[in-house]
Amino acid sequence: MMKMMTRVLSSPSSHVSSLKYSPRRVIRASRDHLRAETLKSHQLPSGSSSTSLCSCGRKHFLEAASPTMPFLPICSPNASRSKDVSETFHPQRPDWYKELFAWFLSTGMRSYEAEIAEYKRKLFEKLAGKAETVLEIGVGTGPNLKYFAGNENVCVFGMDPNHKMEKYACESAREAGMKPENFRFMHGVGEAIPLDDDSMDSVVATLVLCSVSDVTQTLNEIKRVLKPGGIFLFIEHVAAKDGSFFRHVQNVLDPIQQVVADGCHLTRNTDLHISAAGFDGGTEINDTAIYSFPWIIRPHVYGAAYK
Ligand SMILES: C[S@@+](CC[C@H](N)C(=O)[O-])C[C@H]1O[C@@H](n2cnc3c(N)ncnc32)[C@H](O)[C@@H]1O
Repeated sequence: MMKMMTRVLSSPSSHVSSLKYSPRRVIRASRDHLRAETLKSHQLPSGSSSTSLCSCGRKHFLEAASPTMPFLPICSPNASRSKDVSETFHPQRPDWYKELFAWFLSTGMRSYEAEIAEYKRKLFEKLAGKAETVLEIGVGTGPNLKYFAGNENVCVFGMDPNHKMEKYACESAREAGMKPENFRFMHGVGEAIPLDDDSMDSVVATLVLCSVSDVTQTLNEIKRVLKPGGIFLFIEHVAAKDGSFFRHVQNVLDPIQQVVADGCHLTRNTDLHISAAGFDGGTEINDTAIYSFPWIIRPHVYGAAYK
């Protein structure tokens, strides 16, 4: 049933460091400071939107279309005069859309989670006894938190721009048997992670790099917050092979997918982005196919990259 191929791009030279968790230095400066820094690094005038050009090189469908199609589930970029840094990278949506998407993830992913469970179990084993501080970007409803069960020392920061995910993620942490002090939900985006440099033993992303506005910036941020020797775990759906029938269909359906699935792209070569990100300790990328998803989301990559 499953096609599996491993590409070891370079051998990990080191593993997760076991430096001690220091909560005081983890949460960084104020949002205003972050926004100023982020805008500066993107050379944007204050108040302008950085998401007009997507990292796939195309104008972002939702934002491009919203002025002419007001029924789309996206607020006008000018809706709020004081957009925070998350809104710079994650288009604003109405509350009903955020709630609906969170509800869909909490109820509609059960067969996917059952199929992917064995991959996740093996991947998360890499963290056993090594990672005390973990950042999960795009934590969503928290389907990965159960893989930390049994690790009493782990402290997981679950970050997501959709605050409607919080109640589901906290419930998942509780169901996984995590102590309340071992899970913290944070509002934020992968492109501007509000954590210190070299502060995390591990960063986790599952089905997220398809949705961020800027994959390269997100990977740079992941490298920045990882401690030397830290490990990035990922599972992502990716574009089908160039020129294939599946790929043509993905190209056609991609704009619709962005509307119905909160900016998710069907045609990202996320594996190439991860390979190109330059993780010093090496990158392992595996290909597989997941059958419980609609076939346009079937091709997956998963693996680990070491700082
Ligand atoms: C398809 S869901 C996956 C959620 C969860 N990781 C999982 O495996 O079920 C994508 C998640 O990424 C979040 N997201 C979207 N844009 C993001 C960004 N720029 N940075 C971080 N997370 C983002 C969404 O709010 C959503 O929770």
